[in-house]
Amino acid sequence: MRPRILVVYYSQTGQLRQILDSILSDINGKADIDYAVIEPVTPFPFPWSALQFFDAMPETVEHLPCVVKPIPSEILNKNYDLIILGYQPWFLNPSQPATGFLQSELAKILMGKPVVTVIGCRNMWLHAQEKVKGYLDGLGARLVGNIVLTDTNPNLVSTLTVIRWSFKGQKKASGLLPAAGVQDEDVAAANRFGKTIYQHFVDDNLIDLQRGLLSQGAVVLKPGLVILEQRGIKNFRIWSKYIRRKGGPGDPARASRVLAFKNLLIVAIFILSPISNLTALIKLAIKRHALLKDVEYFRQVDYEKGRI
Ligand SMILES: Cc1cc2nc3c(=O)[nH]c(=O)nc-3n(C[C@H](O)[C@H](O)[C@H](O)COP(=O)(O)O)c2cc1C
Repeated sequence: MRPRILVVYYSQTGQLRQILDSILSDINGKADIDYAVIEPVTPFPFPWSALQFFDAMPETVEHLPCVVKPIPSEILNKNYDLIILGYQPWFLNPSQPATGFLQSELAKILMGKPVVTVIGCRNMWLHAQEKVKGYLDGLGARLVGNIVLTDTNPNLVSTLTVIRWSFKGQKKASGLLPAAGVQDEDVAAANRFGKTIYQHFVDDNLIDLQRGLLSQGAVVLKPGLVILEQRGIKNFRIWSKYIRRKGGPGDPARASRVLAFKNLLIVAIFILSPISNLTALIKLAIKRHALLKDVEYFRQVDYEKGRI
């Protein structure tokens, strides 16, 4: 049977679309594949100014997202066998367009369906995926697979290149810095996942899909990330409330708080993060067993509320 697959995704720079195309490249002829693009009614800027970028944090963290455009009715009325949801984290949460979709009536298309999530990001996605799992759970969708592609350069390098990419629009390498984003060879090699999805579908064995994807390296996760995200999200929640007390998105009254958040984040990443990494390593040594259990959980597709 030819699977009918719907790919719903948002991608600001096109990176995630490239990843999705690569994943599906070898099964295009064997499946009926439709794409539905999630489009904000008011597009986010690209490249961003620093103020615009960090001003998007509070509403992203508080899950008060942008409104998204309707999806064509031919797609909404079609019965799909499998849905691939492609999204990216923003500030450790699903991007505003992704949350906008998941909170909208359009997300009913996911009800009762097996879903594979595909994430393309810098390197911090755990908390965002837990939020997406929560939305899928609420919709009665069944998460059967998760594929995560990250920028595998060291943390500080990927921070510098993502800044150059976001604020100047420059993805390609320059000076001592490599290209930003997920490495081209990792995007190209993602075609292996499509074959696995297809085979598990035709074998009627989607329940075992994540095991198959993991055996191909679909999720590479270091224990330190659990600690870093736990810390980060706590601080983001405090700052988002503090900034929103001065107004909504784009309100000039909150600009000074947004810029203070920006400065603090930069200090945290470049000055405090080596110290933070050290304390994370100590915590890792003390709590290794518990953290390894966390890693095992985050690699899977099960959902337990409040894990991070
Ligand atoms: C506002 C904003 C916040 C971001 N926050 C994160 C983050 O918390 N974790 C992460 O790994 N990447 C983060 N990124 C990088 C994105 O996840 C993504 O890789 C990049 O925006 C390109 O995606 P796209 O072109 O497919 O939309 C952020 C990007 C933006 C624009």
